[in-house]
Amino acid sequence: MSEESGSHSRSHWDDRYRSGHTPWDTGITPPEVRRFWQERKPPAAGAFALDIGCGTGLNTLFLAKQGLFAIGFDHSGQALCLAHDRLLASREAGFNPPAGGAAFVQADVGRMPVGELEAVYALDIGCLHSLPDESRPAYAESVTSALRSQGHFHLYAFKRQAGEGPGARGMYEGEVASLFGSGMQIVAEETGVPTTHTARTSSWYLLQKR
Ligand SMILES: C[S@@+](CC[C@H](N)C(=O)[O-])C[C@H]1O[C@@H](n2cnc3c(N)ncnc32)[C@H](O)[C@@H]1O
Repeated sequence: MSEESGSHSRSHWDDRYRSGHTPWDTGITPPEVRRFWQERKPPAAGAFALDIGCGTGLNTLFLAKQGLFAIGFDHSGQALCLAHDRLLASREAGFNPPAGGAAFVQADVGRMPVGELEAVYALDIGCLHSLPDESRPAYAESVTSALRSQGHFHLYAFKRQAGEGPGARGMYEGEVASLFGSGMQIVAEETGVPTTHTARTSSWYLLQKR
């Protein structure tokens, strides 16, 4: 299956957003992410966060509301149009944080143009597990280098399913540790709670940059 036609291609994701066949887009920031921020002091002024494979930007805006400057990256132009609409609607509804803010950037997650920004937090809900295996090391390098020392990376990913079924391929047992092992350590792993939109087994990982 070629890059342009596979279930990981940009056109595949554009088609999903265009058709509205996006069961992951639940409109709810997961409790794991909300809890992480409830349990912490407010971030320092000017701290950056990344929402990797941000889709329609719900969680990017959640991070901005925590006082972070949140940047959502996605390769799907269709998703980013919806994310911009969401940002405009939230501004119209009065979202104008004294600190922080949100922006969306179209980019491949293996080559995020983050320069020297040194994010304190990165979030990936459902992107890494859909990447082809050969793209994952570049992704891990891109995320690790985008974080500052002691920065956190929160990852929600399906477990690998047997065979080549439809949808995200998922992660092999031990794959997260081996992908990020040298630059980050896994500080917590929890089994994902089944949701209304998937019966796949999944995990939430919290990693911290060394
Ligand atoms: C399952 S959706 C999750 C979206 C969002 N995180 C959420 O929870 O609503 C996965 C997202 O990753 C994006 N994505 C997949 N592969 C990508 C890549 N190589 N570069 C950038 N974005 C990618 C897709 O366009 C899609 O928006």
